[in-house]
Amino acid sequence: MYRAAPRDGIAWITGASSGIGRAVALELVRRGWRVAATARNVEQLDSLKAEAAALGGEVFVRPGDITDRTGMAALIAEIQREDGPVALAMLNAGGFFPNEKGEFIGDNFRHTMALNADGTLNCLEPLLPAMKGRGRGQIAVVSSVAGYAGLPTAASYCMAKSGLIALCESLRMSLARLGITIQIICPGYVRTPLSDRASGPKPFLVEVDDAARRICRGFECGGFEIAFPRRMVWLLKAARLLPYPLFFRLQSLGSRR
Ligand SMILES: NC(=O)c1ccc[n+]([C@@H]2O[C@H](COP(=O)([O-])OP(=O)(O)OC[C@H]3O[C@@H](n4cnc5c(N)ncnc54)[C@H](OP(=O)(O)O)[C@@H]3O)[C@@H](O)[C@H]2O)c1
Repeated sequence: MYRAAPRDGIAWITGASSGIGRAVALELVRRGWRVAATARNVEQLDSLKAEAAALGGEVFVRPGDITDRTGMAALIAEIQREDGPVALAMLNAGGFFPNEKGEFIGDNFRHTMALNADGTLNCLEPLLPAMKGRGRGQIAVVSSVAGYAGLPTAASYCMAKSGLIALCESLRMSLARLGITIQIICPGYVRTPLSDRASGPKPFLVEVDDAARRICRGFECGGFEIAFPRRMVWLLKAARLLPYPLFFRLQSLGSRR
């Protein structure tokens, strides 16, 4: 199982302007990586570059919108030409658009899928040929514990994130034969601008720097799933194993809180 090292090339992170992506970029810099950072907010990427420079590291600012398919293909070509081969990619950019009343709003689903699912594919598709050509690479896709099961008020998010888990499970074996390791990252609540926008209780909330360290340890171990905090992960995995009548009873108890 291939595990990327800084001597193999650079790390590329999408959604690096804030939250988890930004914290992982800085943690990778601390661990000796050079990082290409992508998001739409150039000012925030510039400030990440400055913060990395203060740590003695290097971040390449590579702005882009992951929902722009041709733009992403061009960006990856540019990164590999200018900054170096992408040895490790963290496809992290994403967003949660709550549907508080639980109504079916088609555009909420389309928007959530376009960003979290199609956006991730727009990065994965042009990334794979270069890694296949080199016969090695490591890719980590950011899903969520919300991808384990359907949760009320988060239908579109659960739909997108569960799809990413299925995608990575499906690709794991065929990519391994090509020397490419694919991993799925399933965090519970992490304190970031995204979770700050969500209402309601946030059990077992993890601080973003702690999340970044756990994720980087997961890159180094190479195991398929990087999931935390453990209590949240096992609670939701166990709920998923229940027969549906019990599962829905638990859901309705949870949504009354
Ligand atoms: N925080 C949590 O509790 C939690 C839990 C589980 C999973 N996650 C997942 O973790 C990932 C990161 O979330 P976060 O909590 O760190 O949220 P965040 O602070 O809001 O960060 C989201 C990142 O995605 C970027 N982004 C959004 N739309 C984009 C687009 N169209 N193109 C390129 N970049 C885009 C944002 O940058 P720009 O706006 O500058 O483009 C930002 O850098 C997401 O996939 C999220 O679903 C978060």
